[in-house]
Amino acid sequence: MKITVVGTGYVGLVSGACFADVGIEVVCVDIDKKKIDKLKNGIMPIFEPGLEEIVKRNYASGRLHFSTNLAEAIQDSDVAFIAVGTPPGEDGSADLKYVLAVAEEIGQNMSDYIVVATKSTVPVTTGKKVQQTIQAALDNRGSDLEFAVASNPEFLKEGAAVEDFLKPDRIIIGVEDERAQKIMKRLYKPFQLSGDRIIYMDIPSAEMTKYTANAMLATKISFMNDIANLCELVGADANMVRKGIGSDPRIGNKFIYPGVGYGGSCFPKDVKAIVKTAKQYGYDLRVLQAVEAVNEDQKHTLVNKVKKHFGEDLSGMVFALWGLSFKPNTDDMREAPAIVIIDELRAAGATVKAYDPIAMEEAKEVYVGDKISYCNDAYDACVDADAVLLITEWSEFRLPSWKAVGKLLKNKVVFDGRNIYDRKYLNEMGFIHYGIGLGAENHVKVEG
Ligand code: UDX
Repeated sequence: MKITVVGTGYVGLVSGACFADVGIEVVCVDIDKKKIDKLKNGIMPIFEPGLEEIVKRNYASGRLHFSTNLAEAIQDSDVAFIAVGTPPGEDGSADLKYVLAVAEEIGQNMSDYIVVATKSTVPVTTGKKVQQTIQAALDNRGSDLEFAVASNPEFLKEGAAVEDFLKPDRIIIGVEDERAQKIMKRLYKPFQLSGDRIIYMDIPSAEMTKYTANAMLATKISFMNDIANLCELVGADANMVRKGIGSDPRIGNKFIYPGVGYGGSCFPKDVKAIVKTAKQYGYDLRVLQAVEAVNEDQKHTLVNKVKKHFGEDLSGMVFALWGLSFKPNTDDMREAPAIVIIDELRAAGATVKAYDPIAMEEAKEVYVGDKISYCNDAYDACVDADAVLLITEWSEFRLPSWKAVGKLLKNKVVFDGRNIYDRKYLNEMGFIHYGIGLGAENHVKVEG
């Protein structure tokens, strides 16, 4: 089998490399020539565990190709995956211009039956638009070639993308054409999933599945953040509540960790986009609007605690930030709560010293640039700082030497945005520990 994957972002590059790894011939296409040249030289555009190895291995074996020429790539491809970006427009709806441009180019250049499958998260009805766009391009050429569209949303998580792709929980395939279904079935055969884990359905349902999955996960997080905030007020411990409810299999113990709010390229964008889609159909998705509002507020929680402790005016104060990326094991800074936290600390007059194991380059380039100073390690960030804020729960922040940290900080105060530290132990070491929803003792000051 041969496939073309258009777009070498997270989804496209990981999908292309993993399909090649199970023996399929893959051409990854991107309009960005620099990116393609770099990939040919083994330079990854993103940091993702295991990706470089799998790309290099399959490129060397000749199964994985990189090209800027879509027209050429799709010749004798069984499937063309569209995995280009769908950035949010001003009004929150997903912008389809890149997706439809690819569809048009496929219609203009295809020379045989092909399945065109969307892998990017696209709003419901995109399948139909892709179909119409390809058909219009064929009509323009006076061609009567046949094709089928499919929706094959990707559920991979950043930081675990390769593993998620190779060992998926489930595969969703929206397809309404028998021939196309057979081709998709063959394509996923190497993944050896038992029958009920490949789910075939109509295209709009597949599109809705992706949004609903992300919206549900975002809901779990915002729900728990809301509850954590209440726990704090009533003197309960959100960690215990989490364990308590998580033991009910109907609820499950995942994605109920309170924190500084969800970020990344998917949850914020997808929640906004599905709310917008619903509005277009005259329906109000009230739960999801609340999910988004809670998340926006949650990004301010940690700085609110800083202000409660040190006062509203943070002029002349210095804060150490541990972690910048929106979650560990990625350099992705998109919608990272750290951006809001940095802006707020600076607006109150403070300066910020940050350290992140991987994301500092990304942060410098696009997101927080020279607004902060970048440090060599977690301890370096604490030198002469007034307190430390844990934003991203990278493994290397989990067990620091508090003795060393205590010597470096001006005040022994820790704002733990992910509840990863043991308050009792920290208190014994003379630290004040603030967490998210960790009960009334949050406000009890400890000597030291
Ligand atoms: C998500 C989905 O998990 C994935 O299936 C989809 O394809 C794309 O969107 P990703 O954005 O990579 O993946 O990150 P994920 O690991 O899901 O985390 C999202 C955000 O939620 C992070 O900011 C994380 O810190 C936050 N989170 C997660 C919490 O605050 N609490 C939790 O309990 C879990």
